[in-house]
Amino acid sequence: MDLSIIGSGYVGLVTGACFADVGHNVICVDNDPSKVESLQAGKVPIYEPGLEEVINRNVAAKRLRFTGSIKDGVDNSQVVFIAVPTPQAADGHVDLSFIEKVAREIAGVLSDYRVIVDKSTVPVKTGEKVAESIKRYNKHGAEFDVVSNPEFLREGCAVADLMKPDRIVIGAQSERAIDLMKKIYEPFMSPILVTDINSAELIKHAANSFLALKISYINAVSAICEASGADVEKVADGIGMDRRIGRNFLNAGIGYGGSCFPKDIAAFIKISEQLGVPFTLLKEVQRINASQKDRFLTAVRDALWVLREKKIAVWGLTFKPDTDDIRSSVAIDLVADMLKEGAHVTVYDPKGMEKAREVKEIAGATFAASALEAVEGAEALIVATEWSEFAAVDLETVKESMATPMVFDGRNLFDPQTMATLGFQYHSIGRHRVAPR
Ligand code: UDX
Repeated sequence: MDLSIIGSGYVGLVTGACFADVGHNVICVDNDPSKVESLQAGKVPIYEPGLEEVINRNVAAKRLRFTGSIKDGVDNSQVVFIAVPTPQAADGHVDLSFIEKVAREIAGVLSDYRVIVDKSTVPVKTGEKVAESIKRYNKHGAEFDVVSNPEFLREGCAVADLMKPDRIVIGAQSERAIDLMKKIYEPFMSPILVTDINSAELIKHAANSFLALKISYINAVSAICEASGADVEKVADGIGMDRRIGRNFLNAGIGYGGSCFPKDIAAFIKISEQLGVPFTLLKEVQRINASQKDRFLTAVRDALWVLREKKIAVWGLTFKPDTDDIRSSVAIDLVADMLKEGAHVTVYDPKGMEKAREVKEIAGATFAASALEAVEGAEALIVATEWSEFAAVDLETVKESMATPMVFDGRNLFDPQTMATLGFQYHSIGRHRVAPR
């Protein structure tokens, strides 16, 4: 089928590439001329495992191309996906101005029946607004249908998530649109759930909020484990073996970050308030998430007494491993907090250094060239992101390089027993402390 995707950001680019890979002809549209130019020159602006190969393969097969023109995209496709940013405004509500602008622009060039699909994460009832807007600016009176088709991809495994999704949600009200959408997704051979538009929109916010709730739940349990001497990983295994609960997203740590969870939870709270049914449980989810970082910093302070002038190494800056994304990263917040307290912080991340150098809150940090360089002379090491590269570092060498062998593991990457045997004073999240040998 002939498809266009408006917005070549994370979601748009991965979606476009994967649609092309299953045989559709795809036009990716973006209003940033430099982005379009670099994509046309074969440069992929984000780091996502496997994405570059998929893009190159499909550009070479002439199934994927990039343009700056919405008219080009709309004229040459049966289905037009909107995948533009929906950022968070200062008060938590979702800024829909990019969606509104694109809806108007599509309407202005619409000359024949098209399905307009919203892929961006939007508040419930946005589809109705998009339809109203297109109707208002629809110069040629062309027929159209609006569909909601939320994405559930995770950064770091976005290509795999898109090629083999758990489910495909299609929120639509016309059989014509549903048939076209099913045809697009047929090659993915995954379960399809057809709903009304409002339900599809709500599924996205409800799913992300539930996952965040799961993380905050286990993080709250981790605090109880620390206070009682239980082990959060054993507790997570034990409750996760119940198939109704499941073990995924029960990894305790310094809290969730990223471009989705913090924004989507704030948005869902706002949406529920606007609908007159405040979802106060989610405020507690936010509170627990913030307190996890604070509890961790308190443990660092307790051990080091004062942070001023202490040399602290931080491994990991991205909000999770296998991405270069540092948006709303707890690791960055930690570094900023310690710098404010006067610590000398040296940071290292396998993929996030370039973006981190642009963050003014951590401009005072030293950027090391490797994990081992970061720990040289350090009085404490903080593991803030669980990159597998860190798990593979020789810990004997780390210990020898450090001034004092103290490790604060915010992601439970290492085994407490092993760390104690190696002679580290080791603190992790919700697990037993073993005295160093
Ligand atoms: C998330 C959703 O998983 C995805 O379905 C949606 O489309 C976009 O938002 P993403 O932001 O890429 O994806 O990251 P995810 O893997 O969900 O992790 C989010 C945050 O939660 C990370 O900071 C991660 O470290 C943290 N996390 C995750 C935990 O602290 N514990 C866990 O058990 C799982």
